Amino acid sequence: MKKTIAVLPGDGVGPEVTNEATKVLKTLGNKFTHQFVFKNAMIGASAIEKTGSALPKETITICQSADAILLGAVGDPKYDNHPKSKVRPEQGLLNLRQQLNLFANIRPIFSFPQIETSPLKKEVVQNVDFVIVRELTGGLYFGKPRGRKNNGKTAFETNIYSQKEILRVSKIAFELAEKRHKKVTLVDKANVLETSRLWRETVMEYAKNFPAVVCEYMYVDNTAMQIIKRPIMFDVILTDNIFGDILSDEASVIAGSIGLLPSASLGEKISLYEPIHGSFPKAANSNRANPIGAILSAALMLRMSFGLEKEAIAIEKAVAKTISQGFGTADIVQKNPLTTSELANKIVSCL
Ligand code: IPM
Ligand code: MN
Repeated sequence: MKKTIAVLPGDGVGPEVTNEATKVLKTLGNKFTHQFVFKNAMIGASAIEKTGSALPKETITICQSADAILLGAVGDPKYDNHPKSKVRPEQGLLNLRQQLNLFANIRPIFSFPQIETSPLKKEVVQNVDFVIVRELTGGLYFGKPRGRKNNGKTAFETNIYSQKEILRVSKIAFELAEKRHKKVTLVDKANVLETSRLWRETVMEYAKNFPAVVCEYMYVDNTAMQIIKRPIMFDVILTDNIFGDILSDEASVIAGSIGLLPSASLGEKISLYEPIHGSFPKAANSNRANPIGAILSAALMLRMSFGLEKEAIAIEKAVAKTISQGFGTADIVQKNPLTTSELANKIVSCL
């Protein structure tokens, strides 16, 4: 199989972790005789510096003509305390999501038995295995009108969802649940928000198409508590853009390091894969970021975009084996932590 992969390293530790993930993909390509062609493109703060735009036109063209996209991270503290700056690195990612219609964000949450860095009790995190399906191109993030009024002294966003938007992401969640433990939890705030009431009404009706799947409903505030109290109860969490953003960072605590977790942003034509961690600017260029989130994102790409299930499993097994042998970067092991590239090399040799 021959596939073209657009690689968007982005900012901070992004270039280091995507470099390791492509290394893994190359090894795998040789082993299973697939040809992966990588095309690099700019996004985020590094793109702003070179072109003035967080998402240059060329990047969109490269992404559109690729078979899948691998992204590192975007964000630079330089922009964080300047709320008035006109261009922001995050705009690059948000525009890409919107332009490529990446409407469903899949964030698997799991724990490795050997990793004990979670501040949560061992008996709470062990065997946790659920997936957050977050709507990614609607709601508060993109709703119009938005902006300022009253001479800039009042600010507003619009939280807006259509049934169509709710249904297409629900389809992803329910089909995933069918292949897993057959439970969907719709997370909303239907006791307060009109958009949440539409989500609930729509999902209740849609759930009838999946008689084998149990559908539960939970308020987002309660979910925030249950995710760290009894996370084992979840299989697939389906939720809107802003709730999914917040809950997925919270849930990453279960894994023991946000550096371990991958994600997929699915579109109708093309999908994007990225670790859920941010650009971790303090660790940039020091070869100490955890590459596993990026490497597992590459595995998700093989499975979800290319249908290469046994290849995806090969990567996942190599990662699990490397961890079980006690190897890891400083975020997951205390004794003799490896560097980013050393850890990736261990995984490559396991492959
Ligand atoms: C994420 C990130 C983004 C988001 C930022 C970087 C725009 O936090 O992917 O979760 O808020 O969606
Ligand atoms: Mn986020």
